[in-house]
Amino acid sequence: MRWLLGIFVCVSCVYARHEQYDKSALFNVKVKDVEQINYFNSLDYPLDIWMYATQERDGIVLVPKDYVQLFQDELNSKGIEFVIEVENIKDSLELEDKLRADKARNRAMRSDNDLLVNFDDIYNLTEVNNYLKKIAEAYPDVVTLVNGGKSFEGRDMNYLKISNSKFEDASKPIIFIESLLHAREWVTLPATLYAIEKLVVNVTDQDLIDDFDWIIMPVANPDGYEFSHDGGRFWRKNRRNGLLPGDVCLGVDLNRNFDIFYSLGSSNNVCSDIYHGTSAFSEPETQVIRDILHSDDRIEIFLDIHSFGNLILYGWGSGDLPENAFALHVAGIQMATAIDEVKEDWNLNYRVGNSALVLYPASGTAMDYGLKAGVPLSYTYELPARRNSGSTIFGFLVDPDFIKPSAVQTWEGIKAGAIFLRNTRRNLA
Ligand SMILES: *[C@@H]1O[C@H](CO)[C@@H](O)[C@H](O)[C@H]1NC(C)=O
Ligand SMILES: *[C@@H]1O[C@H](CO)[C@@H](O)[C@H](O)[C@H]1NC(C)=O
Ligand SMILES: [Zn+2]
Repeated sequence: MRWLLGIFVCVSCVYARHEQYDKSALFNVKVKDVEQINYFNSLDYPLDIWMYATQERDGIVLVPKDYVQLFQDELNSKGIEFVIEVENIKDSLELEDKLRADKARNRAMRSDNDLLVNFDDIYNLTEVNNYLKKIAEAYPDVVTLVNGGKSFEGRDMNYLKISNSKFEDASKPIIFIESLLHAREWVTLPATLYAIEKLVVNVTDQDLIDDFDWIIMPVANPDGYEFSHDGGRFWRKNRRNGLLPGDVCLGVDLNRNFDIFYSLGSSNNVCSDIYHGTSAFSEPETQVIRDILHSDDRIEIFLDIHSFGNLILYGWGSGDLPENAFALHVAGIQMATAIDEVKEDWNLNYRVGNSALVLYPASGTAMDYGLKAGVPLSYTYELPARRNSGSTIFGFLVDPDFIKPSAVQTWEGIKAGAIFLRNTRRNLA
């Protein structure tokens, strides 16, 4: 009996960090018409919109404890249907911790090649940085570890340059991929780590390293990412402070801070999750990405990896189409098709299109800035969420069993994009 009690006490102390989410409820809102869609998509702080509503898709929103009743009453009064997907999201957070801990226990029994990532867990920032360093040391001819600058709180913005010709072959296009610009989108990290593994450690498509150079930045928002591990799991922005007295709210949405249509489709409310900052490129993290995009005009594909939604999106975020929209669409379709071919039955097909038309208008995004900087094939990926009726591991929460499949599937999309690029260049030459 005492033994049981001991376990119980320890469990609750370990998980105390999720207290801020206790009794927050996850709502699935079944919008019917444009009016309801607009109403849902205009909800602002303190509600946390996980998925904007579209004609085809329900909206998903996390509602803090103190607003659950109010929100329900409001939906009822407007005649909007909804389902409470998760009554208390803290239960889901504890389940995520438990599933991860279970995997870690099993793994401790194995002796893995430490240059191969364990795709049954989400590495934290320290682990990612250690891994990048190890890879660069083990493969000095192919991999260079670059520190692109410091984050707001002074963490290194690390990325890898991967090339079997030392970035000196001017005929090779460069593919630039980053993930975790939004901190809580954990399942995007394995996608970039897997790309590194397939280009360096376990190479099965030699042509991808012969024909392209690669820049891969697994953690584009290191401060936010660290905070999502030890502060608040659903943190999205960076950690800029000093914006409001007493820091009642802080952080800039890095994917609204780039200098493209700046502030037209974002928020000037510091408390908002889409707060765009005090000016375009006010944030050191976006400056580092900007500088990479301008560092070499051979960058021809840029992928900004997010979750969730099963989407491949291209510019402009205003809804206008860029001159090369046709190529963007065709390449996008090929990437999406490649992923759909290997996805699970329960998973949704990817949708491809202009970001404003498929999702919602947004300004200051990395994807749009990539295009502005001259990268012809610039995309936002929205990776799938685990979907399993009855499962509370959903949305930003990670099911360890879905990490590897998600990474492998995304790699199929990346490969298809690279192959599209190679074929079009050859045809044009
Ligand atoms: C990151 O993981 C290491 C173990 O690999 C652990 O010691 C450290 O506390 C973790 N950091 C955070 C912020 O969770
Ligand atoms: C290397 O990759 C292939 C296919 O991508 C996979 O089947 C194989 O298990 C991988 N090997 C290791 C050691 O991970
Ligand atoms: Zn995102």
